[in-house]
Amino acid sequence: MERIRLVGGHALSGELPISGAKNAALPLMIASLLTEEELVLRNVPRLADVRQLNLILENHGTSIEPVDSDPGFNGMGGQTLRFNTPSITSTTAPYDLVSAMRASFWVIGPLLAREHEAKVSLPGGCAIGTRPVDFYLDGLRALGAEIELDEGYVIARAPKGGLVGAKLRFPKVSVGATHVVMMAATLANGTTIIENAAQEPEIGNLAECLIALGARISGIGTPRLVIEGVEKLGGATFEVLPDRIETGTYAMAAAMTGGNILLRGARAENLRAALDVLELTGASVTDEDDGVRIIGPNGPIRPVDVETQPFPGFPTDLQAQFMALMTRSAGVSKIKETIFENRFMHVAELARFGADISVDGQVATIRGVNELRGAQVMATDLRASVSLIIAGLAAKGETIVNRIYHLDRGFERLEDKLRACGAEIERLDA
Ligand code: UD1
Repeated sequence: MERIRLVGGHALSGELPISGAKNAALPLMIASLLTEEELVLRNVPRLADVRQLNLILENHGTSIEPVDSDPGFNGMGGQTLRFNTPSITSTTAPYDLVSAMRASFWVIGPLLAREHEAKVSLPGGCAIGTRPVDFYLDGLRALGAEIELDEGYVIARAPKGGLVGAKLRFPKVSVGATHVVMMAATLANGTTIIENAAQEPEIGNLAECLIALGARISGIGTPRLVIEGVEKLGGATFEVLPDRIETGTYAMAAAMTGGNILLRGARAENLRAALDVLELTGASVTDEDDGVRIIGPNGPIRPVDVETQPFPGFPTDLQAQFMALMTRSAGVSKIKETIFENRFMHVAELARFGADISVDGQVATIRGVNELRGAQVMATDLRASVSLIIAGLAAKGETIVNRIYHLDRGFERLEDKLRACGAEIERLDA
């Protein structure tokens, strides 16, 4: 099994290119199922989750072809892929394909909208809480779908003439449920209004892509999305937005190591809350023409309290990375996780570096220590694993991160990018 070895103590410096966002690429790829015409996506990151979703889409009849290699900055640019689904060849998404990644469940929206039926296995993904799908199912029911659960599968059927526009309100903000109901509503008869919709930039990216395909959507970036159904969608070429979670992750790594890096291609407006918090720790954050520059604190890292919130609040997907940073603060900080109930699995692993963290329910208290020491650690989920890399970059001596397949699901060429900025990091084969 592959591992990552790193030796801490090097301040990151230079330029680090930001990839296309995993959490935008996945729904955009899934949206290609809505149309029989071609969707060309640019800046798709080369990630295990993207490869897994390709398999799932192929199972439904999509052909996927790379257009050209788009090597971009230092050979680290994204790829361009063409998606064509002239007809849906299967409306079933089987367990063995769906169980590896929660977002694959989202095919239920397009399959139901276009074919009026779908049979999709209940999802898997990172073990960061129970992550039910009740909001998705209630949303689809509001559009007229009949839904039953059978042996681990959700079986959904639209009314005879197809889904019907409706007004619905999610009880709690859900990124996935917003993606799915928005996709389904594009082909429904009549108008759908989604209240309490997620406002994450990835929702906006999907909505813009659907509009490019011919959908009628307004209210992007607000909690109220209005979707007027159309008979069919056409083709488009569209670009995946830069990854705000990757941006925030490397921003924390720069702050942690007292570095100075330009996060090339990053868009500060998509992670303002996290960058504001970073400034409170003493780091400097500057918007530049071609990205965001982070300079580590000139002095001790100041402790800051944080509570995760849906966008535009502090993202849960940066909680573990921020906790790694706080392990080295000159004081005590508290982090409250409000989105997922079981997202502190990195605490035990960070303790191996000598971090002082205690957890009480949804709140972690982090007492900064003077020094972290390199350790053998285990990646537990996607974002947690990268918090161990951040700790290792600042720790004294050698760190080995085991089970790094979690990292490959969401971080493109992590070790190459960090090495180019002066980190001592390599991938070991066994
Ligand atoms: C997406 C992101 C993930 C991020 C999360 C929150 C992708 C591929 N994944 O996940 O990286 O951490 O948003 O920003 O984009 N919930 C229910 N019932 C439902 C659906 C959700 O109770 O039917 C709950 C969840 O358990 C969780 C909360 O709602 O507590 C938010 O989850 P949601 O926004 O749906 O997360 P995902 O879309 O799975």
